[in-house]
Order: sequence, then C-alpha cells, then structure tokens
Amino acid sequence: MELRKLNKEDIEAEWAYTTALPEDENGLTNPYHGVSLEEYKEKVFPALMSYEHPVDMPDWFVPETYYYLWDGDKLVGEFRIRHYLTEALRNGSGHIGYSIAKEYRGKGYGTAGLKLTIPIAKEIVPEDEIYLRVNKDNIASQKVMLNNGAYRAGEDEGHYFMRIAK
Ligand SMILES: CC(C)(COP(=O)(O)OP(=O)(O)OC[C@H]1O[C@@H](n2cnc3c(N)ncnc32)[C@H](O)[C@@H]1OP(=O)(O)O)[C@@H](O)C(=O)NCCC(=O)NCCS
Repeated sequence: MELRKLNKEDIEAEWAYTTALPEDENGLTNPYHGVSLEEYKEKVFPALMSYEHPVDMPDWFVPETYYYLWDGDKLVGEFRIRHYLTEALRNGSGHIGYSIAKEYRGKGYGTAGLKLTIPIAKEIVPEDEIYLRVNKDNIASQKVMLNNGAYRAGEDEGHYFMRIAK
C-alpha cells in the first residue's frame, strides 16, 4: 500500500475516484461529483494541483496537498493535508480530510491510509498537534482516528475535535 500525490499519470483513476464520491458525506463535501473526464482534465485537475502552491487565491485559502491511497493498482482512498491552521480550520475541519471508496470500506484502508498520512503531515504542519474533526455519528472515522493515536480534545454540538500529538 502506498500514498501517491495527485499526479498526471494517474489522472483517470483520480478522476474516477473524485467524481464517484458523493456531494456531501459526513461533512466531507465534494463539488466534483459527476464531472466529466474532459472537464476534470481541463479544470478540476489543474485547480487541485494548484492548491499545493496557490496563486491568486483569497487570504483565507490555506495550501492543501492531495494524496491518494493505492493498494497495488487500485486507488482506494483520498487523504488531503492542509498545511497550517487558521482560526476557521482550528475550530473547523483541521489539517486532514479523508475518504475511502464505498466498495473498499470496512477493510482497514481508512486506518492504514491515515497511518501513512500522519508522518507526512508531521513534516508539513508547524503546529504541535495534528487537528482533525469528525461528526459524532461517524463511528468508523472516529475509530480510524483513535486507531492512529488521536485523543478527543473537545466537542461542539455535532462534532468531536480530535488531535494527534507530534
Ligand atoms: C470513515 C471512512 C474513511 C472509514 O474508512 P474505512 O476504510 O472503512 O475504515 P477502516 O476499515 O479502517 O475501519 C475503521 C474502524 O471502523 C469500523 N467501521 C467501518 N465501517 C463502519 C461502519 N459503517 N459502522 C461502524 N463501524 C465501522 C471498522 O470495523 C474499524 O473498526 P476497528 O478499528 O475496531 O477494527 C470511510 O467510511 C469513508 O470514506 N466515509 C465517508 C467519508 C468520511 O466520513 N470521511 C471522514 C470524515 S471525518
């Protein structure tokens, strides 16, 4: 199993993954659901690539790097790292967002993918802890985080705020 950064060689698998993901699932929003391969190649892929080194983006935009989890020749999930916290991210979705393709859930990929993502995030983020947020009713994702050494640092009405010490 390996994490590969968003890249042009894998573009068709990345397109298939991104556009199959629901528009909104457990707070993970996806504006690219159902987008054609042509539009993905022309607009979405270049935009996602640019997020790592944003140009002409608003002040609130934090650089974000997209990684994909591969098991052999199967792309099974996506893990994104936001490079630092703003007030909105600190009290919101934190540093890392992820998903696993529906057909591969419940097989340990979420846990394994976050395990591969954490050391990369530790290199990138300046804060002392990795911040994550999860919906209270998303038991699978809470387990993914707990399996990776996260602790519950707080909560609001609908979420737990989880952190992993560096
Ligand atoms: C959350 C998600 C990434 C988990 O991925 P996954 O590959 O299924 O996770 P794992 O197989 O590593 O499972 C982790 C644990 O959750 C449990 N689990 C998996 N699916 C479950 C479900 N539907 N209900 C309850 N527990 C579940 C597993 O049994 C495992 O338990 P264990 O640690 O006791 O062995 C995946 O369900 C997903 O992509 N969901 C939609 C997007 C999302 O919620 N992203 C996270 C936002 S914070």
